[in-house]
Amino acid sequence: MKPEQFPKHIRNYLLPTPAGKMHYDCLGCRQQYDISRLLYTCPRCGQVLMLVDEDSQRLKSINGSTWREIFDYRQMLKMPAMRGIYRFHEFIGPIIPLEDIVYLGEGNTPVIEANAELQARVGCRLFFKNDGQNPSASFKDRGMASALSYINHLVRQGRIDNVLAICASTGDTSAAAALYSAYLHPRVRSAVLLPEGKVTVQQLSQPLGSGAKVFEIPGVFDDCMKIVEALSEQYNVALLNSKNAWRILGQESYSYEIAQIFDYQTGDLAVVVPVGNAGNITAVMNGFLKFLEFGIIQALPKIIGVQSLHANPVVRYYQDYSKGKTFMPITVKPSVAQAAMIGNPVSMPRVIKLVETYNLKAGLQRVFFVQVTEQQIMDWHLTANRHGHIACTHGGECLAGLVEALAKGLVSDKDVAVLDSTAHALKFVGFQDLYFQGKLKTPFNILSDRRLVNMPVKIRPVDTKCPEPGKPLAGNELQRFILASAEAVAQQLNLQKT
Ligand code: F0G
Repeated sequence: MKPEQFPKHIRNYLLPTPAGKMHYDCLGCRQQYDISRLLYTCPRCGQVLMLVDEDSQRLKSINGSTWREIFDYRQMLKMPAMRGIYRFHEFIGPIIPLEDIVYLGEGNTPVIEANAELQARVGCRLFFKNDGQNPSASFKDRGMASALSYINHLVRQGRIDNVLAICASTGDTSAAAALYSAYLHPRVRSAVLLPEGKVTVQQLSQPLGSGAKVFEIPGVFDDCMKIVEALSEQYNVALLNSKNAWRILGQESYSYEIAQIFDYQTGDLAVVVPVGNAGNITAVMNGFLKFLEFGIIQALPKIIGVQSLHANPVVRYYQDYSKGKTFMPITVKPSVAQAAMIGNPVSMPRVIKLVETYNLKAGLQRVFFVQVTEQQIMDWHLTANRHGHIACTHGGECLAGLVEALAKGLVSDKDVAVLDSTAHALKFVGFQDLYFQGKLKTPFNILSDRRLVNMPVKIRPVDTKCPEPGKPLAGNELQRFILASAEAVAQQLNLQKT
C-alpha cells in the first residue's frame, strides 16, 4: 500500500524522520557519552553501556493505541527500510535516516503454534518464534542490522571510513557480522575470532563464504572475547559483539514483534530464551519495558531464561539471590547448546540491573532462570522437530526450560509460552547426527532414546541390476529394478497391496 492510501491520522507517522538525541549511558558510573564515536565500554570505569534516547518523552505525545496502529499499518509498506526491525524505528534507532538503514531481510520471523500433540505433552499452549529464519539463520541478524545501519550512517556522513568490524563468536554472531559487513563492502571489512573446534562446520562456512578473515583460537568463547576486547581497546576496530549497545537495540525488535503478533496482549505470555552471553535476554527485557513505558503494552510478560547445567553462571547467580550479590564467572563444560557455552557473559551487569527493574515495574517477580540437562536439551530439540518445528539445540533448550518451569510452577497451564528458536536446525545438525549414532555419551552424558533415533534405510534389491554412476539401466532391467525396489520400500513400510 502507498503512504497516501493510509488513514489520515496515521499518514504523518508512517515514515519516520530522524529525531531524538541519543547517548551512551554507563551502567557503572552513570557517565554519559556522545554517540558520534563508536564506544563499547565506559572509558572511565570500564563498565558496559546502554543507549538512551534522552528525548524519548516526545514519543508520549502519541498514545499507546496510535503507536499500535502505526506499527500495524507499517507492516503494509513496501520500502525496504520499513520491512524489517526498523518498523519500530523510534524505539530502535531514531537518529538514523531511513536511507542509511541496512535491510537484508531480518526480522518479522514467523511465530508458529505447536500442534495439539506437542502442546498436550508439554502441558501448556506454546509457540516457537523462528528466528532461525533470519538471513544468516539466527537471531543475531536483528542486532547486526542495527549495528551496521549505524556504522553505515557514520560512513555516509563521512565520520568513519575503511571500517574493520570485528567480533568473537560461538558461531552465529560471526556469521551475521560477516554477512552484514560484506553487504557494505568495500567500506566495511570484517574479521572474526572463533574458539577452535567449538563452532559447527555450517557456522564456520558462513563467515568464510562472506569473505571475512576468520581466526581460530585455542580455548573457549570467553578466551576469544578477551582477545577482541584487547583489540578494541588498542586498535581502531568496530567491535560487533553484544557489548556494542547498538546490537542490543536491534535485538529489542524481538520483543516488539512478539507484542505485535499477539495484538499487544502480553500479560499472559511467558517468553522463554536461552542465555549465553546474555545479550538477548537483556534486549528482550528492555524491549518489553520500553513498550510498557509508552503504553503500547499494558502488562509485562514472564521471562524465563534457560541455561544448560554445563554452562549456567546466570542460573547460579540467581540461586540464593540477594541484592548486591557478586557475580562469579564459571568454567564451562561442553554443551550441545554450544553457542550458549559461555561462563562469563558480558551483558551480566545489564541483566542484573534489568531483572531488578523488570520485577519492580511488574510489581512481582516476572523474570526466572532455570537450568536443564544436556539430555533434556537433546531430547526436546528432537521432539520439537518431530512435531514440525525447525529448532536447533538452543530451541530445544528453550522447550526443555519450559518443561522445567512448568514442573517448578513458574509457568502454569494458563500461560502462553513463546519459545525463542534462536537459530535454524541445520546449523547444529551435527549434534542430531551424533545422537542418532549414539555418540553423545562423552562428553555430554547423553543417551540416545531409540524412539527419537532415525536413520536412512539403504535399499539394495536382490536379483536385479542396480544403476551405477554413468551407467543408467534401461528396458527390462530398469523395469525389474523399479518393481523390486518398490517392493523393498513397501516391505519396510508394511504397506498392503490395494
Ligand atoms: N542461541 C544461539 C543459537 C546463539 O548463537 C546464542 C549466542 C545464544 C542462543 C545465546 O544468546 O548470547 O545473547 O545470551 N551466540 C553468541 C555468538 C554468543 O557468538 O554467536 P546470548
